[in-house]
Amino acid sequence: MDLARELTDFLGAVEQRLGSTLVDGDAGPDVKGDTLMEAARHLCLGSGSKRARPMLARLFGGAVGVPAERLVDVAVAAELIHSASLLHDDVVDAGMFRRGRPTVNARWGNIVAVMSGDLILSTGLFQLSQLDARLTRSALSVVSEMTRAAIAEVEARGDLDLPLNRLRFIAEGKTGSLFGWCGNAAATLAEHPEAVERFDGFGRHLGVAFQIADDIRDILGTDVGKPRYADVHSRTPSMPILLAVAKDESLRRKLKDAWAFSAITPDRTKEIGAAIEATGAVDASMARMNVEIEAALDKLGHFAKEPAGAELVSWARKLSAGIAEQVQGRAA
Ligand code: IPE
Ligand code: IPE
Ligand code: MG
Ligand code: MG
Repeated sequence: MDLARELTDFLGAVEQRLGSTLVDGDAGPDVKGDTLMEAARHLCLGSGSKRARPMLARLFGGAVGVPAERLVDVAVAAELIHSASLLHDDVVDAGMFRRGRPTVNARWGNIVAVMSGDLILSTGLFQLSQLDARLTRSALSVVSEMTRAAIAEVEARGDLDLPLNRLRFIAEGKTGSLFGWCGNAAATLAEHPEAVERFDGFGRHLGVAFQIADDIRDILGTDVGKPRYADVHSRTPSMPILLAVAKDESLRRKLKDAWAFSAITPDRTKEIGAAIEATGAVDASMARMNVEIEAALDKLGHFAKEPAGAELVSWARKLSAGIAEQVQGRAA
């Protein structure tokens, strides 16, 4: 069977496991249904997630010969940790739209969103604990790192002087740590210490690149699941925003003024978004994204020669090419 087919089958098995995990549980006597699980299903099932982390887990595992059945648990845990972080993130960002649907906080309110996130996080970690204690330990450490990055991002809100290494710390914590964990977990199951180190490094660099790509799409308006300029609107200093204000002092003053008020109007957001693009900050961000991708590939080393490793390389290259295409499409 070829790798593409194996990957499709694997992702099918992950969907099945997610479906059988996110079923109504015991919500106590005299209540119908399970609101927290209903909310979790709304986010997680049939909602157009790219399932990037399950796919990474499968490819990392394939590169060190871990059987697919053992990787399903890793993939499901990664997706549940990720989904919990999204439930919480949409509360933090007051995000109203995700994966083309209203967010859980928009539909059920913040309390349900926070608690649904806690429920699926604990469910994912519990299932993982039945697989391997080492993986639970490393996953818990990733959850701490993601939490610290999330608060660092909140604390950075509105800060146009945020140092780029601080932005990188946030991106690595939010996204790179879990990407890296998918590799770390697969390599741990394979009892392969060199792969643990290399895959973790690959995932971390790739995660930073992935986050920069997300920042770029926000400015280009090419993420159909989310409103354009959400970062400008939510006072989140993203890579293009920081690079733009470093280049254009008058834009820095304009954005600083706009962010000084609690609500920034849609017209103002649009005007500033367009001004950010006009500084060339998207190209500059793309260059930084590509540096991270090259660093990721460097980390992968000889594993790039394995068929599954070559797929990891191709996935990283497609991330870069996809953004380049979107940038060119907008310039044309
Ligand atoms: C969204 O992650 C948050 C970021 C890391 C930018 P994904 O882009 O992997 O989200 P889904 O799971 O495909 O919706
Ligand atoms: C999503 O982060 C949460 C994590 C990656 C932990 P963002 O706030 O950057 O992502 P979107 O833009 O809401 O998907
Ligand atoms: Mg968000
Ligand atoms: Mg956020």
